[in-house]
Amino acid sequence: MAPNNFKIGVVAVLAGWIPSITAAPVSSNSDQTCRKTSVAILGAGMAGITAAQALHNASVSDFVIIEYNDRIGGRAWHGDFGKKSDGSPYVIEYGCNWIQGLGNPGGPENPVYTLAKKYHLANTYSDYDSILTYDETGFTDFSGLIDEYGTAYDKAAAKAGRLLVQNLQDQTMRAGLSTAGWNPKHGDMKKQAAEWWNWDWEAAFPPEESSFIFGVAGSNLTFNQFSDANNFVIDPRGYSAIIDGEASTFLTKNDTRLLLNTRITNITYSDHGVTVYSHDGSCVSADYAISTFSLGVLQSNAIGFSPQLPGWKQDAIQNFAMGTYTKVFLQFNEAFWPEDTQYFLYASPTTRGYYPVWQSLSTEGFMPGSNIIFATVIGDESYRIEQQTDEETKAEAMEVLRQMFPNVTIPEPIAFTYPRWASEPWSFGSYSNWPAGTSLLAHQNLRANTGRLWFAGEATSAEYFGFLHGAWFEGREAGAQVAALLQGRPCVQYGNDRLCGERKHYDPLTGTSPLSQYTLLNGWAVSSLYESGDD
Ligand SMILES: *[C@@H]1O[C@H](CO)[C@@H](O)[C@H](O)[C@H]1NC(C)=O
Ligand SMILES: *[C@@H]1O[C@H](CO)[C@@H](O)[C@H](O)[C@H]1NC(C)=O
Ligand SMILES: *[C@@H]1O[C@H](CO)[C@@H](O)[C@H](O)[C@H]1NC(C)=O
Ligand SMILES: *[C@@H]1O[C@H](CO)[C@@H](O)[C@H](O)[C@H]1NC(C)=O
Ligand SMILES: *[C@@H]1O[C@H](CO)[C@@H](O)[C@H](O)[C@H]1NC(C)=O
Repeated sequence: MAPNNFKIGVVAVLAGWIPSITAAPVSSNSDQTCRKTSVAILGAGMAGITAAQALHNASVSDFVIIEYNDRIGGRAWHGDFGKKSDGSPYVIEYGCNWIQGLGNPGGPENPVYTLAKKYHLANTYSDYDSILTYDETGFTDFSGLIDEYGTAYDKAAAKAGRLLVQNLQDQTMRAGLSTAGWNPKHGDMKKQAAEWWNWDWEAAFPPEESSFIFGVAGSNLTFNQFSDANNFVIDPRGYSAIIDGEASTFLTKNDTRLLLNTRITNITYSDHGVTVYSHDGSCVSADYAISTFSLGVLQSNAIGFSPQLPGWKQDAIQNFAMGTYTKVFLQFNEAFWPEDTQYFLYASPTTRGYYPVWQSLSTEGFMPGSNIIFATVIGDESYRIEQQTDEETKAEAMEVLRQMFPNVTIPEPIAFTYPRWASEPWSFGSYSNWPAGTSLLAHQNLRANTGRLWFAGEATSAEYFGFLHGAWFEGREAGAQVAALLQGRPCVQYGNDRLCGERKHYDPLTGTSPLSQYTLLNGWAVSSLYESGDD
């Protein structure tokens, strides 16, 4: 099965672009010809639909949602895969797949979990203790290293808390782990695999590329505030059923406020309004707009902004990091792995992060009898396999499985697929990550509005970046704030707190060492501004 077979609608749109290249977007002085609305919402993923619902809840019904794909859901994206005994396909999630942090009795509940219950979304507890470990010779027990990491992580987390509370300088997650006693050698492939399982698999980046303070804080906010459980979604309607469900509470069937298959090319914005131009020459002129473009799309320069986004906004966009997380699915005629186990961790003898985590869907509670297993890779391994053919990637995955299970004759898979997230023109990656040495105020610049153009999505969530519930919180807040501005209400109440008016941004962001400290005493004898040959 070709990896991109699901995107029939997208392909149709791509083909539709070609004639429109000559029909360049009209300039802003022809706004009169554009469809008018109060709020243009750019993207119909979790953030966009939640923003629209917040507007609806505030009695703002005049909005238009503009979506690239032929469906609602964004990165909550599923497709058919393989076949059941009756010949019908299974449904797999290409993108987000877990409800992360559910909620403890009496405590706050993750809003995504609330929606999952509302729509009876099928989901199963992911048991991270149900794991077996392997290397190139087959089963070999190094699960003790996972516990060893956990002990060091707890120590590191406490230190990250002190850094946050005392406003001390951020570090890389690598430095935080090392000073807490977890310092794996590059050649210790089992420790590297245990670390990947614990860190990279969640962050979609290695510890070197992750903030110590905000990496730990983000994990705390989801898993300490809600609960430490993760549930895996296995619903035949797809994870997006909760987003479809919420959309149907305020959108009618064929609602003219939802424009699917519409690729935005240009945005003009000011303190008075926003005009959004699309590939087909259509445009929408709005009092306000809420961009829910992924960080990857914003980073790619795929959209022309007029005027150019201000420097502080461009810096924020380029400073935060977009991760790529790739699930490689295989279906077999039979399950040759222990079906009572959920996870299989593989330590490649040469390459960190080479098909490290395998997950059985054939296990009881998931899709028993499906004989489906999938591997996950991130980052450079994702970029590498995106450039390969399915056949090349399948051969690599099969070689790894044959190393892991040397005593069984493993047949060729009967189905194989994986998404190519880094190349998807509507996402350019999977989800965001907080880089080391980047402050909360630097992040606030990612959320802040530029004129009447607002921003929402998982990446704009300081507390829940990378998570689907981050997109929900940010969509709700942007929608509620914009509704208040439209209605001339000063503030919106959130529990005991309130938010009023536009968002703050910080320009400039100051450094941590004042220029007066750049001295010989501190090892800075020569100015970096000096050029030899200058007078
Ligand atoms: C809109 O109101 C409904 C009903 O009170 C509520 O369930 C939902 O969470 C609200 N949505 C947002 C985005 O605030
Ligand atoms: C994370 O939670 C742990 C456990 O409650 C706490 O000790 C630590 O200070 C927290 N760290 C941050 C950065 O919030
Ligand atoms: C929605 O559009 C489809 C396809 O154009 C049409 O068949 C259907 O009757 C419409 N439904 C409603 C409720 O208008
Ligand atoms: C639209 O954006 C593109 C860049 O994506 C830019 O080259 C072009 O000039 C823009 N058009 C207008 C009318 O602003
Ligand atoms: C595979 O077979 C070899 C030789 O019979 C045996 O030593 C080894 O324990 C087996 N490995 C597994 C994972 O069953």
